[in-house]
Amino acid sequence: MHSVLITGGAGFIGQNLVHAWRTARPDDRLTVIDAMTYAANVRSLELLIADRSIHFVRGDIRDAELIRRLFDEHRFTRVAHLAAESHVDRSIVDPEAFLQTNVLGTFTLLHAALDAWRASGVIDRARFLHVSTDEVYGSLEPNYSAFSESSPYRPNSPYAASKAAGDHLVRSYVSTYGMPALITNCSNNYGPYQHPEKLIPLMIIHALKGKPLPIYGDGSNVRDWLHVSDHCEALISVIEQGRIGETYNIGGGNERNNREVVRLICDTIDRAFAADRALAARFPSCPAASGTSCRTLISHVTDRPGHDHRYAIDATKLKTEIGNQCSVGFETGLLQTVRWYLDREDWWRDVISGAYQVWIDKNYGFRIEI
Ligand code: NAD
Ligand code: TYD
Repeated sequence: MHSVLITGGAGFIGQNLVHAWRTARPDDRLTVIDAMTYAANVRSLELLIADRSIHFVRGDIRDAELIRRLFDEHRFTRVAHLAAESHVDRSIVDPEAFLQTNVLGTFTLLHAALDAWRASGVIDRARFLHVSTDEVYGSLEPNYSAFSESSPYRPNSPYAASKAAGDHLVRSYVSTYGMPALITNCSNNYGPYQHPEKLIPLMIIHALKGKPLPIYGDGSNVRDWLHVSDHCEALISVIEQGRIGETYNIGGGNERNNREVVRLICDTIDRAFAADRALAARFPSCPAASGTSCRTLISHVTDRPGHDHRYAIDATKLKTEIGNQCSVGFETGLLQTVRWYLDREDWWRDVISGAYQVWIDKNYGFRIEI
């Protein structure tokens, strides 16, 4: 039995991880800390908070005093560190927030955990997992082999650079202080509860509202799509079975370019409308409501500066050492995800608040159609 701290537990992957952890390890006690930035949402956790199945703290990982107090009170022996600023486009517009949370926040948390574990004598059975990204490795040429754990770090966005800095700090704490830490670097996640600023939910919601589907540049950029349920399963396995000081790559084995992803979303929505007439009444602005393909909404807009061309993950180490393998195929996972956003209009309409609209205007306002 462990007392577990999940940072960023009100974010997309964090919420999914809380539910996955409770299923996989029901005897563990879970505490979530989250600063409740624009990216956070606790709706899926409300029942667990209300019946005290999890302990929820609204707080900032940069607050050393708070973190120390939480370690004293809860005697954590597991930390799954997911709290971060996570959106590349926002890091281009406002990089400072990324350095604050992803570098200074990671440092504060790491140091507080080390102090607490040394003082309480549990360092031999404690584990700290830093959840990082494949973006630290930079961009792959079309025919190059997928990223392995020994690929060089070549971050191209302020987001990727800040996550790389976090990884380096964690690594240095293992070597210097014997910190029982591990790192995972995963590819692009998708699935339920993802904030509508990210590619897949953004395209689904825009299509349902009949708004343009803004593909950056020519849409040939490739990502390796990982279903969030596969990711969470892998995180729980790595924190329990991984070797301290090691890095594990987690990928979906689903390389697709953005054009293919957006077309598949359109076709999936078209088919859903053809099969269920009630959808046309709920989403009358969607082209599929009048039998026209959502593909007609696709528009190509100015590219993202420093846009990495391709990410792909070689997850052999995860499979051979831990026995973990991703199982959700992209077409199946995408169908489930489209279904989830169709069913949970209440969820995304709440998230799309005034603040979200300000962001959309800021990010897409300057992009011209090409
Ligand atoms: P997210 O943006 O949905 O959630 C991040 C959460 O962290 C939010 O709830 C936010 O409120 C919280 N947070 C931000 N700053 C904080 C602070 N200073 N103190 C406490 N909480 C704070 O992100 P996500 O997609 O769930 O990603 C989780 C982790 O996984 C991140 O570390 C990210 O870098 C990594 N990752 C994500 C992906 C992906 O595709 N989503 C891919 C690779 C790696
Ligand atoms: P995103 O979801 O922001 O993840 P990341 O930048 O971390 O990979 O974007 C995924 C891909 O989709 C990326 O190549 C950028 C592209 N993209 C668009 O073409 N249009 C959009 O509106 C967004 C948000 C992303």
